[in-house]
Parts: sequence; C-alpha cells; structure tokens
Amino acid sequence: MRRKLVAGNWKMHGSLEANQQLLGALVEGLRGYDAADVAVCVPAPYLAQTRSMLSGSNVAWGAQNVSKHASGAYTGEISASMLLDFDCRYVLIGHSERRALYGESDHAAAAKFVAASQAGLVPVVCVGETLSERETGVTEAVIARQIEAVLSLAGVAAFSNAVIAYEPVWAIGTGRTATPEQAQQVHAFIRGLIRQHDAAVAEGLVILYGGSVKAANAASLFGQPDIDGGLVGGASLVADEFVAICKAVKS
Ligand code: 13P
Repeated sequence: MRRKLVAGNWKMHGSLEANQQLLGALVEGLRGYDAADVAVCVPAPYLAQTRSMLSGSNVAWGAQNVSKHASGAYTGEISASMLLDFDCRYVLIGHSERRALYGESDHAAAAKFVAASQAGLVPVVCVGETLSERETGVTEAVIARQIEAVLSLAGVAAFSNAVIAYEPVWAIGTGRTATPEQAQQVHAFIRGLIRQHDAAVAEGLVILYGGSVKAANAASLFGQPDIDGGLVGGASLVADEFVAICKAVKS
C-alpha cells in the first residue's frame, strides 16, 4: 500500500512572524496524526526556522527549487547539499510557475531532479498541462513529454524514491479544481507511463494532485485510486485549512 502524502507549497509567502504562527499551529493541529505523511515546502530563507519549529513533530519540510550543480560560481542558486544541511526531506522540481515564469525546460527540471535524487532528497516533480493544451487534446502528450525527460536522464529506479505531482496549470490558484474523475484519469495515465518502464516502481509511486485543493474537495480527490495525496498552495498558508486537508485522508 502506498502511504499518502500531503505537502504544502508556500510559494513566495511568509515572514518570520507569520511562519511562527503557522508552523506552531501545524505542530499542534497534527500532533498524533498518522494517516499520511505531511510536509511543507517553504522559501529557502526560512528553512532554519522551519527546522527548529518542526523537528520532533510529524511534519517534514522541504524546499521549492534546487540547483543542478553541486557547488560553484552560480550566484543566487542553492545546492542539494545546502538543503540537506537544513534536514530537508523534499524538494519541488519543475513547478509550473518555474517553467512558465523562469523558462525552466523539461531538461532543466530533469537535471535538477537528478541532483536532488543523487543527494538523497525526495524530488517532487511537477507536471501538468495548460488550459489551451487541455482544450486541444494534448494533455497526455504534454505530461508524457515532461515525465519522459526525467526518466531518460534519471532512469526509472530513481522514481522509487521520488514523487510526481500532477498540477493542471488551469487549476492552480484559480479556484477551479480538476474534478476527481479528471484528475484520476491523468494519474492513471502517469502510473501507466511509469509501469511501461517498471511495474513495481509504478505501484509504489506516490502521485499527488495539485490545483485549488481545499478542505472541501480533498476527500473526494484523495478517494481516487491513483491519487495519493495533494500538493497544496494557497490553502497550505491557513493552518486550520491545511490540517483539515490532511485529515481528509482516510487512514
Ligand atoms: P493552489 O493550491 O493555490 O491552487 O496552488 C497549487 C500549487 O501550485 C501547489 O504547488
């Protein structure tokens, strides 16, 4: 059985003061909770604060981006080993905002995946189609292209300690969630892609849904056979809402 995961992506939100409230409330709200793994992916400057507040709790943490390089003259970049210095478990790879706003290619995302994976982080690679791609019927082709880029660089074995997040771009921050059936269809397609390379890796692979996940829609999404949890943006900034999303996982 795959263990579900609920991960928050704070994006570029937070302050020392606000984080203290939010992290404190998560520790309290999720004390004793064991139905799923839980994590928050915070802005890098807050990793020290996050580690100090979450150590010993059942909430793990991670970052939102990583360099493909181990070290060197790469001003502004952050390496996988730096994230490990702060006990990060996860790192988001190829989020659609990085692809769309910072020109991150499939290949660049794949290279970051490899750097994270080889360092011992759990890469959470994000894939998803835009609205026009969905409307022109190329959703599966886009997702296959995004995933094959990672498979060809990292190899399928690397997916035994990785997560895929399906985040349709049209559902991110829009309040327009994919229906559970729409999401399930793409999740099954993703698992099928991995199965073509390795059936055991495919069965064990955690595939998250992201895009306007809320407490009100989480249970129906998480109830789908191939949806193994969520990657939560806006709602992860509200402690009660994020805790309620975690508790929507059936144990
Ligand atoms: P929202 O939950 O705000 O739609 O964001 C989803 C997302 O991009 C998570 O990575």
